[in-house]
Amino acid sequence: MEFQNYINGQWVEGKSKFQTINPANEELLAEIAQAEITDVDAAVNAATEAFKSWRLVPAPLRGELLFKIGDILKGKKEELSQLLTRDMGKVISEARGDVQEAIDMAYFMGGEGRRLLGYTAPVEMPNKFGMAVRDPAGVVGLITPWNFPIAVPSWKIFPALVAGNTVIWKPSPETPAISGAFVKVFEEAGLPAGVFNLILAPGVDVAKALVSHPGVRVLSFTGSTQTGRLIGETAARLNKKVSLEMGGKNAIIVMDDASVELVTDATLWAAFGTSGQRCTAASRLIVQKGIAGKVKESLVERTKKLRLGDGLDPKVEVGPVINRVALDRIHNFVQIGQKEGARPLIGASVADVNGKGFFYSPTLFDGVEPGSTLEAEEIFGPVLSIIEVSSLEEAIEVNNRSQYGLSTSIFTQDVNRAFTAMRDIFSGLVYINHGTTGAEIQFPFGGVRGTGNGHREAGQAALEVFTEWKSIYVDYSGKLQRAQIDNREEDM
Ligand code: UN1
Repeated sequence: MEFQNYINGQWVEGKSKFQTINPANEELLAEIAQAEITDVDAAVNAATEAFKSWRLVPAPLRGELLFKIGDILKGKKEELSQLLTRDMGKVISEARGDVQEAIDMAYFMGGEGRRLLGYTAPVEMPNKFGMAVRDPAGVVGLITPWNFPIAVPSWKIFPALVAGNTVIWKPSPETPAISGAFVKVFEEAGLPAGVFNLILAPGVDVAKALVSHPGVRVLSFTGSTQTGRLIGETAARLNKKVSLEMGGKNAIIVMDDASVELVTDATLWAAFGTSGQRCTAASRLIVQKGIAGKVKESLVERTKKLRLGDGLDPKVEVGPVINRVALDRIHNFVQIGQKEGARPLIGASVADVNGKGFFYSPTLFDGVEPGSTLEAEEIFGPVLSIIEVSSLEEAIEVNNRSQYGLSTSIFTQDVNRAFTAMRDIFSGLVYINHGTTGAEIQFPFGGVRGTGNGHREAGQAALEVFTEWKSIYVDYSGKLQRAQIDNREEDM
C-alpha cells in the first residue's frame, strides 16, 4: 500500500518516503510520501485560494457535502475499521466505534449547515437593527493523534468545514494509512480542490512550519501536554487562535454502596480498552475502603482472563500499544511505581504474543501513595493505580488534586452522593455509574486544569473554535444616531 499527501485536490509524491508498520506483528503496512516544508506552503496557498469561494458556498450546501461524506463513511465502515486496526492496533470492535464516531460527527455537523446560529438582540436606538453572525475564521491547521485516528480528526475537520473554513490536516505519522484512506472519502464526496489538504510527515519540522505559518489563522491540536504547550506558545506569539486538548489522569471513584460487578465491567473497559491509550482512559481507581478488597479481587480475577493479541481477531480484548517507544515508556513508569513502593497485583511486564508486536500486560497497582509518580503522571498504557480513601469528600479531593481534569466517574447508588459529586468534581466530563470513556459527539468534549486551554470540541461548542463573531448594526433612520448618547434624556 502507498499513501501520498493531498494538496489542492491532487495526490502529491514526496522526495522521500517513510513507513508505517502494524503494531500487532511489526509487518510493513504502507509506504508514505513524506511532506516537506514547501508542501506546507503549497497547502496553505491552496487553502487560502479555496477559502475565497468555500466561504461563500451557502452553509446548508456545505452541510449537504458532510451528509454525503457521512454516507460514504457508512458504506466503507468495515473496510476503514480493518485498516485502522492494522495501522494502530486497537481491537476491531473499537475501530468500528472510532469510525462510527466520525459518521456521527459528519451528520451532526452536516445539520449545523442549517443552523450555525447567531442571534439578534434589541438595540437602543429607533430604526436600527443589530445581529451577531458567525464568520469562518479562515485557513485552519489541525494536528491530531494516532489513538483515535478517525474520530478525533472528525471533531475538528467537520465543524471547520461546515463553518466555511479551509483545512490543512497533519495527522500523526503513526497512522498515515488510515488518514490517507479517510481523505479519499472527502475526495470521493467531491469536496472542491484546496478546501481540505493532507500533510504526512514524521518529526517536528513540518508540524512546526504549519503551526508558525502566517497564513494559518486557527490551530487545533490533540496530543501530549509537552507538544501542546509548545504549540500554545507559538500561537500566542503569532496571535493565533489555538485549541489544545492534552493529558489526562482520569479517575473512577467507587463508593461502598456500588455494585462490584458493574464496577469491574466498567473499570476493565475504561482502563484497558484501546490498551489504556485514550485521553479518557481511567488510570486511577479511587475506592472507598469498605469495598476496596472485593473490588481488587474481582478486578484481578477478570484482568487475568483478558485476551491479548492482534485486534483483527474478534476474540481479542486488548491489542498492542502503538510502538516500541511507548512499550518502553510504559514499562519505565511501572518500574518507577515499584521503586516508589506501589505493589503490582497483576501485570507489570511486557507481554509476549507469538514473539511479535508491542504488547503490555494489563497492570493493576495497589498502595499508590499521594504525590507518587503513578498517582500523578499520565502513562498512556494499560496501567491502573488503586488509591484507597475513607469518604466521598476525600475521593473528590484526590480527584481534583490532579494536574489534569478531563474525565471522572463515580459509582454509587446514593442520589445525594451522585449529585454532590456532579457539583464538586472539577473535570470537563463527569460520568455517574459509567466508566470514564465513551463521550458522545453532541456534547462538548474537553478538560480543565492542565488538560486544555479552555476550549471544547464536539457539540455546538466546536463552532466557537472555528468561527469569529461578527456583530452587525444596521441603521435605517437616515440620520446620525449616537449610541450611549442621543437617547439619554438625563444628559440633555
Ligand atoms: C481520546 O481519547 O482522545 O470518550 C478521545 C471517548 C471517545 C473519545 C476519546 N469517544 O473515550
